[in-house]
Amino acid sequence: MARFITLSRAARLVGVNRATLQKQIRAGDLSTFEGELDLSELLRVYPQTKLEDSAMIERADRLIERALNRVVRDQEGLPDAEVLATRIAAMSHELGTANYRMRRYDLFMQQLQDYLRKLAEPDVTLAHTDINALRTWLDESLQQLHSRIDDEGELYATDMLLRVMAAQVHLEPSGHEFIVHGNDSLLDSGLRAGLALDYGCADGSCGRCVAKLRSGTLKLVRKPRFRLSETDRAQGMNLMCCNTAVTDVVIEAVETPLPEQIELQQLQARVGSVERVEDDIAILSLRPADGARLRFFAGQSARLSSEGLSAEYAIASCPCDEHQLEFHVRDRDSDGFAKKLFSGMGLNQQVQVEGPRGDFVLDLDSLHPAIFLAWDTSFAPIKSLVEHAMALESAESLHLFWAHTQGELPYMHNRCRAWADALEIFHYAHMRVEPHVYSNDSDARETLATVLAAVAEPHFDVAAFDFYIAAPRNILDQCERYFTARGVPMAQLRMLEMAV
Ligand code: FES
Repeated sequence: MARFITLSRAARLVGVNRATLQKQIRAGDLSTFEGELDLSELLRVYPQTKLEDSAMIERADRLIERALNRVVRDQEGLPDAEVLATRIAAMSHELGTANYRMRRYDLFMQQLQDYLRKLAEPDVTLAHTDINALRTWLDESLQQLHSRIDDEGELYATDMLLRVMAAQVHLEPSGHEFIVHGNDSLLDSGLRAGLALDYGCADGSCGRCVAKLRSGTLKLVRKPRFRLSETDRAQGMNLMCCNTAVTDVVIEAVETPLPEQIELQQLQARVGSVERVEDDIAILSLRPADGARLRFFAGQSARLSSEGLSAEYAIASCPCDEHQLEFHVRDRDSDGFAKKLFSGMGLNQQVQVEGPRGDFVLDLDSLHPAIFLAWDTSFAPIKSLVEHAMALESAESLHLFWAHTQGELPYMHNRCRAWADALEIFHYAHMRVEPHVYSNDSDARETLATVLAAVAEPHFDVAAFDFYIAAPRNILDQCERYFTARGVPMAQLRMLEMAV
């Protein structure tokens, strides 16, 4: 009896991301039915998946423990959180395997019924051999039933436990999916998954994140100040920033697929940290004040102002990170804001942020593998794009190439290495080049050709990739000539001109 689960759930069960499963589906290694995967099919391709191996279970145990800690802390007479967490996990597992066993026996009884019905047909004369054949069939079927329960049943039970701990949200009409952990709001979870959900205040006062519940159960986690009308409520309208998902849910929600659909915002932020990563490069981290949050697409920029000095920088953080805005600032004489930062901008100093601007963003509809090409500090918007692409889990593979003119290693080399170590689909390479590459003479062009060959040559079909390149104009021009000559369509070349 087939038991189907969504790609998101399958990915969590076997510990890979959705893009990996999508790649296997496209290659014909995994088959699906109406976009969902059969558990036994999943087990065939990932036979090593076992309950005790699953990091998700440990995580689920921790989540139960944390949640219960809050509930039972002050109540006497209840078992402690750890005991309850263990019991919930054990009971959920028991229920899952029992449920699975029942489904298989149900199928077995149907087959037995069909068998007996055939034997009972008027023109069949029952012989001794038929009884023996029935007995053999029963023995074999029961044996198969028991042998298949072990692995597949364990997987089924694991899925049930994960359903207790985290609900899945399916968005209409886009078909996007994301997981909601604990009491997180639908809006926070969707944004963290890299989706461009429409919202305004994120605290229940504007009504802009309204979405229609089509199936499943929601629970209020924040009291909204915005009042939905009776008619809206009767139609299943709910605010995503104020509700969490109790069960798996399907909701109709507005997503904003284009950067021009996001209006210019202004907010106050405070300096959270300033890290000097090179003599003339600093990483500035800002914390938006009063829980405010800048709505932007990865790859966009914002204008920062403080004490009459202002400059525009690419945002280096992901829109899925609601707690900070990151910028990579180079010390330049022409940049008063940078001068002030390098001469000592204090922690908690107020900075006004105005943005977002720009259209150097991910193509959200593309399933192509992506190549990101950064030059020195143009890594900032590239970092934002890479983090967003990783949160979305939709690209088959991500390749980051970073050309740098300072130091042995680029200034965030360890971060890139960590991504490559943690993610099977992420590949990273860097190349040290002489600063002369930014001039426009024949030597520079030759150096650049070497860099571009290093980017393109490892890939058999470079025209199958989406390219995201941030660099000074002369580099962009040569990139365009180089990649289009190798068959990359202009629509797959996204470029941002910036000083590095
Ligand atoms: S975003 Fe304003 S009410 Fe939800």
